[in-house]
Formats: sequence, C-alpha cells, structure tokens
Amino acid sequence: MQTKIEKISALSALAVNNIEEVSENEVTFLSFREKLSLSNISHPDKKNEWKAARLAIKYALDTISLPYPGFYKDEHGKSHAMDGFGFVSLTHTKGLAAAIFHKDMPVGIDLDYVREKIVRLGPKFLDPSELEFLNNDPLLYTIAWSAKESIYKCQGRKGISLKENILLKPFSIQDDLISGKIHQTDHSDHFYQVKAEVEKEMVLTYTIW
Ligand SMILES: CC(C)(COP(=O)(O)OP(=O)(O)OC[C@H]1O[C@@H](n2cnc3c(N)ncnc32)[C@H](O)[C@@H]1OP(=O)(O)O)[C@@H](O)C(=O)NCCC(=O)NCCS
Repeated sequence: MQTKIEKISALSALAVNNIEEVSENEVTFLSFREKLSLSNISHPDKKNEWKAARLAIKYALDTISLPYPGFYKDEHGKSHAMDGFGFVSLTHTKGLAAAIFHKDMPVGIDLDYVREKIVRLGPKFLDPSELEFLNNDPLLYTIAWSAKESIYKCQGRKGISLKENILLKPFSIQDDLISGKIHQTDHSDHFYQVKAEVEKEMVLTYTIW
C-alpha cells in the first residue's frame, strides 16, 4: 500500500507510513510519558512499529493544523489525547503503520494483508448471515475482519465479540462504504460507517462520520 497523508474533513485526517522509511525520523514531539514507553520497548521491530504509528498521528494532526497533545492508553488499550481533545486510533502490520484522528468523534482504523486462511477462520468472527454474502472470498473476508476491527477499536471496550456483537450489512467488492452495528450488549445499538480501501494485497478500513 502507498504511504499517504489524507485530509478526510476539516476535523479528521489519516496517515499511512512505511515503517522502515520513517524509522530514522525524529520523534522529539512525543510527550515525556510516550518517550518512556518507547524506551521500554526492547524489540527493535516493535519499537519501529510503535514509532511509525505515532509519526502517523503527528502527520495526520499536522494536516488539520492541530498540535500533538501526547497520548496515553486506558485499561482497554485504547489511546486518548492527554489534553482530552479529539480521538485517535492506530494500527500496524508487517511494514506499515497507520493512524486516524478526529477532533470530535471516536474513530477506528485497521490494516490487514489478505490471506487465504482467513476463510477457514470465518466462523470464529462472522455471523451466519455474514458468511452467506461473503461467498468464501478471502478478500471479502479480510474486508469484513478489518471493518469489524475498526468498529471494535472505535468503541474501545474489551469484551465486545467480533462475532456476537458486531454485525455488518451485506456488501460487495464494489462497495467502499460498509455499514455495521454493535448490538446485543448492555448498551443500546450503535451504528457505524466504515470506509474500505483495497490496494494489491492490503486492506485499509476506517470509521467515518
Ligand atoms: C486490540 C485489537 C483490536 C488490536 O488489533 P491488532 O490487529 O492486534 O493490532 P493493530 O496493529 O491493528 O492495532 C494495534 C493498536 O490497537 C490499539 N488498541 C488496543 N486495544 C484497543 C482497544 N480496546 N480499543 C481501541 N484501540 C485499541 C492500540 O493503539 C494498538 O497500538 P499500540 O499498541 O501501538 O498502541 C485486537 O487485538 C482485538 O482485541 N480485537 C478484537 C477482539 C477479538 O474478538 N479478537 C478475536 C476474534 S476471533
């Protein structure tokens, strides 16, 4: 997938980084707490992933002319702005890291490689009604997986099941917008729109408002 920085609206932007390309970039903008977290990661690949994802947030924020506030993680693993303004989501996979920021609304982002074996794993994360329209197609399964992960990250709480609590409306490869909902929880249903972008063997999804 091409690296990019994209302004989604005046309030929201995303960036996709090639981890190797940005591994030498300066991260002086990080908060003290983040610098500490970074220095505590011992594995070099994990360190570069972490760094590339924070650089992606920085580039996204630069695009909508907002300062980098520093981020901390809650008990669910979701990152929050230290100044309490705005919402962020991160993802990294082999070679790539991405981030999305929205000034007013929660967001979720996910990057995945298309793999044949995902079809076998389908019943673990898909509802029977979803299995019907995905036609055993590894690309459609990957988009469904990624869309659910983006919705999961957007809501942020552990304990939400991709299979039982996140339901996608039927979609096909022509659709770049996927509708989904979180249901059957203690809360009322929440509805989401997920943008899906496919480039070669990569799928990028992110929630939009
Ligand atoms: C947490 C989870 C979404 C992370 O996804 P992943 O594909 O492993 O990894 P990604 O690189 O895409 O995302 C990692 C980022 O997710 C973010 N994240 C972690 N927990 C999160 C949460 N509860 N809410 C929002 N974002 C979260 C973090 O920012 C993390 O990056 P960081 O460690 O650099 O800060 C995933 O592990 C998960 O729990 N998925 C849903 C649960 C599930 O049902 N899984 C199995 C079904 S068969």
